[in-house]
Amino acid sequence: KIIILDFGSQYTQLIARRVRELNVYCEIHPFNRIPAIDSSVRGVILSGSPFSVRDAQAPTPDLSAIRGRLPLLGVCYGAQYLAHAFGGEVQPAPSREYGRAMLTVGDAQDPLMRDLPATTQVWMSHGDTITRVPEGYGIVASTEDVRVAAYRIGGERTWGIQFHPEVYHSTDGKQLLKNFVVGICGCAQSWTSESFVESTVRELREKLGDDRVVLGLSGGVDSTVAAVLLHRAIGRNLYCIFVDSGLLRKNEFDEVLESYRDMGLNVKGVKAGEKFLADLAGVSEPERKRKIIGRDFVEVFNEEAQRIEDVRWLAQGTIYPDVIESCSVNGPSATIKSHHNVGGLPEKMNLKIVEPLRLLFKDEVRRVGRSLGISERLIGRHPFPGPGLAIRILGDVTAGKVEILQNVDRIYIDALRAAGLYDKVWQAGAILLPVKSVGVMGDERTYESCVALRAVTSTDGMTADWVHLPYEFLADVSNEIINKVRGVNRVVYDISSKPPATIEWE
Ligand code: XMP
Repeated sequence: KIIILDFGSQYTQLIARRVRELNVYCEIHPFNRIPAIDSSVRGVILSGSPFSVRDAQAPTPDLSAIRGRLPLLGVCYGAQYLAHAFGGEVQPAPSREYGRAMLTVGDAQDPLMRDLPATTQVWMSHGDTITRVPEGYGIVASTEDVRVAAYRIGGERTWGIQFHPEVYHSTDGKQLLKNFVVGICGCAQSWTSESFVESTVRELREKLGDDRVVLGLSGGVDSTVAAVLLHRAIGRNLYCIFVDSGLLRKNEFDEVLESYRDMGLNVKGVKAGEKFLADLAGVSEPERKRKIIGRDFVEVFNEEAQRIEDVRWLAQGTIYPDVIESCSVNGPSATIKSHHNVGGLPEKMNLKIVEPLRLLFKDEVRRVGRSLGISERLIGRHPFPGPGLAIRILGDVTAGKVEILQNVDRIYIDALRAAGLYDKVWQAGAILLPVKSVGVMGDERTYESCVALRAVTSTDGMTADWVHLPYEFLADVSNEIINKVRGVNRVVYDISSKPPATIEWE
């Protein structure tokens, strides 16, 4: 495997994903908690950082267990650190170098530069520049503005590069990373979905034996893939619970429950919509809605889980971005997010936690799901918030409003599928606004609700752009909604991006 030491760069996860795309397993660790370097580690990559090496608080890890012993690649800050710490000079660049640059390979024989064209586009993002390398360092590539764009330390398998090979705009970045992890480190490209499934099933069997495991299904990709993986390992000893909050999409609970059963999962569906609606009555404040729904969910789930005799484990669909220890500008923080942790149950019932997807990025979860034979319809589903339609009904939530919104949403999503747009959109949904407006239908004046439609593209939900859906499509959907859904006489389309807006309205 490859170890990536994180100095807090926004691109660290991208490096990891690129390495994984080469079918090589890698892990991210904060720079100040270097893991044990055993024989499974074939090489180390140092990430970029928001710090300058000249800052007093800049990270200065002790790399003596690594440098000279294993192949080492410093990217951006990583490269500057390896130059600065050993007698080189790093100065503020005359202007901040950001964006595309043409790299000219000086030493075509260099193993890191193998199969790269003589000149290639790279992505730069740095405020400092290496003005002098220590003795024994050889420059292997330059750009017009950056003389030390890539160097190798003589007599070692250590390189430093100023640009970011992990970024899409570095045209041959993938080849360069391949040269490092495969050519130089000698990693086998054997980390595939199939090998992951095989080894994980084996490990789960060993770890769980004949123990019983409980898992909460949400209809989302992560919990579904986690369940199918566990099911393959331990079969009927996996007990799944799928709670219907009454706030899901129209017919979704029944449809998804049925496909879970078709997959052979041992799943108990619990219809608890009335409880959720009763507890939400009269509540308009978004964060209070979220708290009530979260609490109700835990109550319903726990009650069901306690009926399973002798259950020993709680399984969760936690994925890698949730467990990477974040490394912020104020120094790496030790907090590990645990989104999916079902409150209180592990302590109360003395359960151990099992998280079969905790090493995977989202796209890898999807790939694993496909290789497990889960249907494309389940794998390709848009993200859907835990609190469901409650946070898409602005103001208080009632059964009548849920029904209106479910009908609107159904028309919209079906239309996206029919027009072949569903898979081009990252997330889509309808929002019921707390606004009534005047309309006219036939000869009658109406005074009814307004709905907003939203569709965004995104990679991780952190930023998002609104989708330029075709006008004809919007016109047809608007007509169909107003004609078919009683209580709605106006449709608007949300053209805000995140930031400054958010994806959900609440
Ligand atoms: P925002 O609205 O913050 O949403 O731009 C980003 C992503 O997170 C989802 N979301 C939630 N998911 N519980 C969830 O499980 C929540 O309370 C919640 N709020 C927002 C949202 O759907 C989008 O994918």
